[in-house]
Order: sequence, then C-alpha cells, then structure tokens
Amino acid sequence: MCGIVGATSNRNVVPILLEGLKRLEYRGYDSAGIGIIKGETIHSWKATGKVKELEACIAAAPDTAQTGIAHTRWATHGKPLKHNAHPHRSDRLAVVHNGIIENHSGLRKKLKEQGYEFNSDTDTEVIAHLLASHYRKSEDLLVALRNTLNQLRGAYAIGVIHEDQPEMLYCARQGSPLVIGVGSEEHFIASDPLALLQVTDTFVYLEEGDHAVISPCGIKQWDASNNPKQVNSQRYEHAEHSMEKGEYRHYMLKEIHEQPAALRDTLTGLFTEDRVLTAILGPEAEKRLHEVQNIHIVACGTSYHAGLVARYWIEDIAGLACNVEIASEFRYRRVAVPANTLLVCISQSGETADTLAALRHARHEGYLATLAICNVPGSSLAREADWRLLTKAGPEIGVASTKAFTTQLAALLWLSAALAQTHGAPPEITGEIVRALHGLPSQVEQALQQDAEIQRLAERFANKQHTLFLGRGPLYPIAMEGALKLKEISYIHAEAYAAGELKHGPLALVDESMPVVSVAPNCQLLEKLKSNLEEVRARGGQLINFACETADMQDQDGITHIHMPWVNSCIAPILYTLPLQLLSYYVALVKGTDVDKPRNLAKSVTVE
Ligand code: G6P
Repeated sequence: MCGIVGATSNRNVVPILLEGLKRLEYRGYDSAGIGIIKGETIHSWKATGKVKELEACIAAAPDTAQTGIAHTRWATHGKPLKHNAHPHRSDRLAVVHNGIIENHSGLRKKLKEQGYEFNSDTDTEVIAHLLASHYRKSEDLLVALRNTLNQLRGAYAIGVIHEDQPEMLYCARQGSPLVIGVGSEEHFIASDPLALLQVTDTFVYLEEGDHAVISPCGIKQWDASNNPKQVNSQRYEHAEHSMEKGEYRHYMLKEIHEQPAALRDTLTGLFTEDRVLTAILGPEAEKRLHEVQNIHIVACGTSYHAGLVARYWIEDIAGLACNVEIASEFRYRRVAVPANTLLVCISQSGETADTLAALRHARHEGYLATLAICNVPGSSLAREADWRLLTKAGPEIGVASTKAFTTQLAALLWLSAALAQTHGAPPEITGEIVRALHGLPSQVEQALQQDAEIQRLAERFANKQHTLFLGRGPLYPIAMEGALKLKEISYIHAEAYAAGELKHGPLALVDESMPVVSVAPNCQLLEKLKSNLEEVRARGGQLINFACETADMQDQDGITHIHMPWVNSCIAPILYTLPLQLLSYYVALVKGTDVDKPRNLAKSVTVE
C-alpha cells in the first residue's frame, strides 16, 4: 500500500520518478505526488486519481531536476484528496511515507503546541514536522532523522529531501519495504525493485530499522542502533520478465495466459521423472522434513485460499495434520504448537504486513522450522524464513492474483509430495503426483482455450448483484477463490459454500435471479455434488457448472455445463481455477470496471 520512489542523479530524474510511480501503481492509485529539488528549492506537484493525472499536471508545466521523491497513495489517514497526497512539507524539507504511524495523534498535538501548522489529515505530516523540529535543533539531517525515527511507533518506509542538501536523499525502513537501487553515478529508492528495473537491476535490501543516505556518488547505511553497515547489493532475479501488457487489454488477462509458462518455471528442478527433489530447501531438508509431524499454514487473501487447498493435500497425501489460518488472526493469539510443527507462510509479495508479522510472532512459539512460499526473491518474508520455496510467476501487476495463486498451488502440491516421500509413502503415490505435475502446464494451456465460451457466459452476469459459488473437498477453497475474484474486480457480491452446506442456509437465497457457479471435477464427491446442484435447480436457480468431460453431465433447463478436460484429481484444484479467473475477468469487462486496479484495493497490503 502506497508506493515510494526516489532518485538522485546527474541527469533529469523526473521521467524516472514518473515511470517508477506507474510501475508502483498496483500499490495504491487514489492520488500521487512528486517533489524535486530545483536549484535550492523544493517544487512539488500533486494530483488525485491515477499517476496519469499527475503526469498531465507536470506536462502542463514541465520541469527538470536531479534529485526527487515521489509517491502513489492508498489512503489510510485522510481521504484521497490533493492536500493529503504526498510529499508533505515542513520548513525546507519534503517527505514521502508508506505505512502507518500509530502514535501520530499524540505527536500531532505536541507539534501543534510547538507552533507547527498541519495542512493535511495524514499521519505522514507529523514525520515532516518532527524532522523539521529536530533539524532546527541539530542542523544535522542524519541526527534529525534518527531522533525522529526514535519517536515513531508503527510502520514506515520513508524518503526525505532537504533544500540544504540538494544532492542527498535520506531514507529509512521499519515494517514497510524499501530498497536502494544502485546505478552508475546515480542511486534510487523504491518500495519494490519493479519500480526501478528501467534504470537498474542491482539492489540493496534495507533490513528492519535500517536507515541510509544516498547521493549520486555513494550509499551510506546504518542499522537500528546507528552502527554503520556494509552495503550489500544483489542482482534482481526476475529482471528478464516483461512489465508490458503487450497484446493484452489488461495485465490480468496477460497474467492468466502466462500461467502455463509460470507453472513450468516454478516446477523446474523440483522433480525427477517420478521422484520429488527436496534439495531446493537445502542440504538438511530431507532429514528435517522427515521430522515434521504437523503443519501450520498462515496467509492472507488469495494466498490463504492456496493454504486451504494445501490442507486437503497434506492430510490426504502425507497423512500429516495441517491447520490453516488467516495471518491477521494468527498473529494476535496464543497458538498451541505441537512438537515438530512446520510453519508455512504463503505470500505472493512477501511483504504483506500481517503475514510477515505472523512469521515474526512464530519465532518465539517453538516451531521446528519456517518455510516461506513466495514469488519475490528479495522480499522480507523470503529473507526472514528458515526455508524459502520460490514460485516463478514473474511480476504480477493485476491487483487480482492469478498466476501467483496457481504457482503457489503447484509449490504446495510439491510440498505435500515431499512430505509424503520423506515419511515413507509408497513410490506409486508420489510418482502419480509428480507425473500429474509434469503434465500440468500443457493441461492449463488446454483449459485456457475455453476463453471465448466463458466470455459469452459472462454476459449473463451483467445485471446480477449476488452470486453463489459451490465446491466440495479441495474444490471448496477454489469456489472461495472464484467468489473472491468476482467480488474484487466486478463488485458483484459473491459467496462461496461447501456444497454440502447449501441447505443449512444459503438455499434460502436461491431463486431464478441468482446465478450459482459450481466446480465439479470427476472425483469421489461428484455424485454428492450432483445432488446439491439438483437442490439449486429445483428452486429455479441458474446454474453454471464447470464439469469434467467424463462426468456425464448434460445441459438441462437451468443448468449450463462447461466441459473441462479430464485431469488427475490431485491437480484438479489448479485446473478448475482457470475458468473462474476468466469468468470474473469477462464479467468485469461487462460491468466496465477498472480490472487491473479495482476500487479501494491494493496489491501489496503492507499495513495492518
Ligand atoms: C491483497 C491482494 C490479494 C492478495 C493478498 C495477499 O489483498 O489484493 O491479491 O492475495 O493481498 O497478498 P500476498 O502478497 O501476501 O500474497
């Protein structure tokens, strides 16, 4: 939430800042702003709405500068209005901030008593005034920054420029991500390396509590105790992925169609022909996985749904007990951790505040080990967990997660098979999973060919306000994911039920105006599901059923079946996700919503 970008260079940085903001727009898109140092004066522009509105403001009065900071906002404190957009000013400095300052009201009161005037409703403005007040006393911006950080409670990534030091950019991180981009005689800051891939592929990942000063000729970095740190930079591993939409109308559609390649990349190196390779988790993995007796999974949003599917797999395939919990709940409760429990944190971004806090909370709870399943190699989650299993989906820009989800599922099926193998499961069991996974990318390609048929179906949702999604077994969380996708991008209220629960309440909602979407692979629960669908049909509900071509289900009055290719039941949850993604995408088109940037949402939720 909120994206920061900053630059100090010998060339004009305004285009770099604007391009960075566009690449960070997935983090927030309700308003944006830029502050640059021109000569020895800070100039700023702010605009509500998308970055293109800001770009238009700048185009009307273009300017150049060699140092600047910029911000795209997802409002927490204060409405998305121009005066709340960043940067925020005090005296001769300007600040951009991502995060939430929890003690802002106390600080605001004290600063007002000192005579500071507030021009916004944001928590960020207290940082600007605090910095200014400390700078007045010390006349040293580094000292002022440290004194300010000492007074802040909550989460922040901040960038600061000051007219007295036109080449310098100060920054700090606590609880919200921040990287330094390393260039040749130029340096940058950003919330995410993606913002800077057009100018560098080398990054310094700030750790919690770090602060730094950058100028065109250098980087100085300190830890939370103000000890100088060696500046360690790393090459960004996803640099070869294209950030362009190419031939696609939306990132979401592009990302849906990238799934075969993303799955192939994720699965490469995880198997032989018929055996699971565990070395990806390190030399001790085989032995440590053998010790695991329980699994706890924590995640948020779509990643949580991946965890829910994994519970079915882990208990069924490996025979180990598995609990799945939403990270924002887990982090605030005392968890009973049985001996030899593995904690698995799933996150596309690796920066989701609650998931990260859950991992940190777990450090003192006696887990055997922690594993991050994550799509961003340099992210906080990937760096802080004992083990990491990286999905190789490449950058995901659409706010609604698609390829990140199916690659998480593939990684979790691998984990289930790895646990089964290290616990002595018969080779036929793991062999069958491995073979199914080998065939998965091409089956996904096949499933995507239903695009046109699903597009036609989407028309039926044009005037609908509510939809039910049904599934059973591991397809129940897939129904949940289908409902989440639909509400995220088309704003239609959608709820998912385990089909067996239908008659315990939701059936009361079913009439001829209610579309009901179900997923029915040819599994052992198919006959049970068919009965549940009859219950819907008998009430006049309009059923859309994604069914296996071998499931012997034909169109009848009130039921439309979309036939899916036969797949091994272990990979059915992955395959049946695809038509639900396409359905929500095309319904959003019918509704005319902003598919890639749905209202009120952000891709990376770095605040609680
Ligand atoms: C936000 C995004 C979702 C995502 C969730 C968890 O809500 O809009 O698409 O599933 O965060 O994100 P993570 O990066 O932890 O997977």
